[in-house]
Formats: sequence, structure tokens, C-alpha cells
Amino acid sequence: MTDKPVIKLENVTKVYSLPTDDVIALDNINLDIMKGEFVAIMGTSGSGKSTLLNQIGCLDVPTSGNLYIDGRNVRDLNDNELTDLRRDKIGYIFQNFNLIPLLDLSENVEYPMLLKNKKRDETGYPKKLLEMVGLDETRIRHRPNEISGGQRQRVAIARALVNDPTILLCDEPTGNLDSKTSAQIMDMISGLNREGRTVVMVTHEPFIAKYAERTIVMEDGRIVS
Ligand SMILES: Nc1ncnc2c1ncn2[C@@H]1O[C@H](COP(=O)(O)OP(=O)(O)OP(=O)(O)O)[C@@H](O)[C@H]1O
Ligand SMILES: [Mg+2]
Repeated sequence: MTDKPVIKLENVTKVYSLPTDDVIALDNINLDIMKGEFVAIMGTSGSGKSTLLNQIGCLDVPTSGNLYIDGRNVRDLNDNELTDLRRDKIGYIFQNFNLIPLLDLSENVEYPMLLKNKKRDETGYPKKLLEMVGLDETRIRHRPNEISGGQRQRVAIARALVNDPTILLCDEPTGNLDSKTSAQIMDMISGLNREGRTVVMVTHEPFIAKYAERTIVMEDGRIVS
């Protein structure tokens, strides 16, 4: 771990404007995450955990304040640069997997590579990654609705890794999994952190947060500890 923040949030506020009223999902967040750190984000439902991860993942723009990735203010990036950053540097494991139903498992994992290289994969890497996360070859032509929740979670992890990101963002990576599968998934994520990746993980399970070296607790859009 070096002392250079790879992720920096400076007075980040996110307000969702609804017809009835405004929801302050993030309220003046200041946060530095160092290269190679493993940070867990905890807090009650609705406290702003996914919103925070979405800002870090550049899926959403803060209403005010600044986000720096690798020292660059994302407000200064144009659309193409932002797309490249998201695709090449950041692996995102979504709360609900977001797998593409019409693609088989191997094609799901390959998809970010296809976006990057503009051509189909010839290296066999998506299949290798699926094997690495524990999905055997007989499964890879199945579609997401033909496999279990734990298997979908593994596919989502493989997909997040396919472009070799330096930052891994995970939103409830073990949500709804049994304890044995959760432990396997967490061992995998810990290993990716030990290889030098920065990991930011949302979880509501104290047992899962223990895998991280630092835990942030959110309440009403603020970091309270
Ligand atoms: N697209 C949206 N439009 C309006 N309000 C939203 C939107 N997304 C989230 N919110 C609101 O922002 C607040 C924070 O939501 P967020 O999804 O970040 O919570 P969370 O901590 O991830 O909760 P959970 O543990 O249930 O996943 C909530 O009050 C939520 O209702
Ligand atoms: Mg959430």
C-alpha cells in the first residue's frame, strides 16, 4: 500500500430530485482510499451505500463536490475518457449482478473485452476466468437464468475482472448466498486485493466486513464512523 489516494471524494453531495421532494442520498462526503486498500462500507438500508459506490464507479455524477480517480478530477474528463476509465480501470460487481439474459455465461464475461477490443475474443480468457471462479466447462454455454444465485455471483465477478481492473467495486457481493459460498467468494476477493487491487465493498454483514482492513459506516448519506 502506498500513501497516494487512488480514490478521493471531496465534499461530494448527491441529491435526487423527485416531484414531491429532494432526497439527499449523499451529504458532503469526504473520503480518501489509498492504492491497494480494502475498504468495507456498512450502514442501514437507504443510508447511501450504493449511491456512494455509483459515484466512485463513475456511473453517476455528483450533484456537487469532486471525485478524483488516480489524481484526475472526473469532471475534467470527456465522455470518451470517462468510458475508457470505467471500462479499463474499474471492475464493478453490482448488487443484482446485471448479467445480460440473452448472452450465455462466457459471452457475459467476454462482453467488456468486446467493448474494449472491438472484436471477439480469441484468447480463451473469459473461459479461464470462469474456471478460476469455480464454474466448470459444462456450464459456460448456459444462460444466467439457468444457474444458481451463487453461480451468477461468480459470473459477475469473472466479468468484473476480464479487463484486469486496478479498482474493484462490489455491492453486496455475498448478498443472499449461503455461508460456505460467501466464504469462497470472500477468499477470492481478498486474494484479488492481495494481488494489489484496491477493493471497495458494500455489505450489511459484520462477518463479511471483517475481511476488509477498514470499515466505513454510513447513516443518512453521511459517514458517521
Ligand atoms: N434513482 C433514485 N432516485 C431517487 N432516489 C433514489 C435513487 N436511488 C436511490 N435513491 C434514494 O437514495 C437513498 C440512498 O439509496 P441507496 O441505494 O444508496 O441506499 P443503500 O444504502 O445502498 O441501501 P440498501 O442497503 O437497501 O441497498 C435512499 O433514500 C433511496 O431511496
Ligand atoms: Mg444498495
